[in-house]
Amino acid sequence: MQTIAVIPGDGVGPEVIDEAHRVIRRLGETDGVQFDIVNYPFGAEHYLKTGELMPPSVIGEFKNMDAILLGAIGDPRVETGILERAIIGGMRWGELDLYINLRPIKLYADYLCPLKDKKPEHIDMLFVRENTEDLYIGIGGHFKKGTKDEVAIAQMMMTRKGVERAVRYAYELARKRNKRKKLTLIDKANAIGAMSLWTRTFEEVGQEYPDIERDHAYIDAACMWMVKNPEWFDVAVTGNMMGDIITDLGAAISGGLGIAASGNIHPGKVSMFEPIHGSAPKHAGKGVICPLATLSATQMMLDFLGHDKAAARLDTALTRALTSGEIKSISTSSGMKTSGYTDIVLKYLT
Ligand code: IPM
Ligand code: MN
Repeated sequence: MQTIAVIPGDGVGPEVIDEAHRVIRRLGETDGVQFDIVNYPFGAEHYLKTGELMPPSVIGEFKNMDAILLGAIGDPRVETGILERAIIGGMRWGELDLYINLRPIKLYADYLCPLKDKKPEHIDMLFVRENTEDLYIGIGGHFKKGTKDEVAIAQMMMTRKGVERAVRYAYELARKRNKRKKLTLIDKANAIGAMSLWTRTFEEVGQEYPDIERDHAYIDAACMWMVKNPEWFDVAVTGNMMGDIITDLGAAISGGLGIAASGNIHPGKVSMFEPIHGSAPKHAGKGVICPLATLSATQMMLDFLGHDKAAARLDTALTRALTSGEIKSISTSSGMKTSGYTDIVLKYLT
């Protein structure tokens, strides 16, 4: 039996994770998807009570599991970044080495898109964000902190190995996806010379994928195309920081944070799945948050774990739920209850 770790986390995290459990239970009945589920308490409450963030021994436990499902991390009572870096970062760039951040950007229904005249056939792409390097490595610091002479330094680090494995994953994905067979590299090598590591690696590795069309855009232009011509994108690959930003833009054009999910993946090893949204403390405990992003993360996890049929059925159920007319909006002011969204998805999960 496959084992999954579940970290409900902070704010709305536990609420959306409850909904994932409902869907997993249903798929257990209909598709025989059975997991051993181990819950972990990490997050603000646990940290404030015990001083513990995420002990290294837990990473060892995760290594023996098949996947991790995360709700959300972050709490106003804890200094910004402490929990995020230790828990999310600890999994991504720690020993689990979750070097791919995979973000599907898919418009499920017309009304979710804020762009004029863009329909589901125009917005359907996969972003591969490098997940362990770049400005996220924490090398740097402050000199004369808090004074008028303060100097703040953050080093951007990219390695051939890190870039190559992300690029290679993206080429493989473009091939496997078999849609437009196009891969867009997004960088800023015109201003940041070191980024030619991406450009060169992309060209070199690309020689092994003659069936995949190579495309390139600088990050600023890519943001513009995402809004003007999202249909130009099929699979895109980019660095950690730029990937963080442009995939939120991607979330916005496909319905917002209520729907966007990501997979933090080390191919062939334990990987972590989460909604893109944060802990949204102001909405916590009210039962108004849309759980669809977490259900989408669950769908990605099922797919990763080899439950292809169940994953495809869940994807269809999400599409049908969102196009049924029963969900008018996925914002917290929609008047819908968190569990109400799942009720509709379960109705279509037939
Ligand atoms: C994300 C989040 C994280 C990131 C934060 C919480 C550190 O925004 O998953 O995109 O920047 O990667
Ligand atoms: Mn982000």
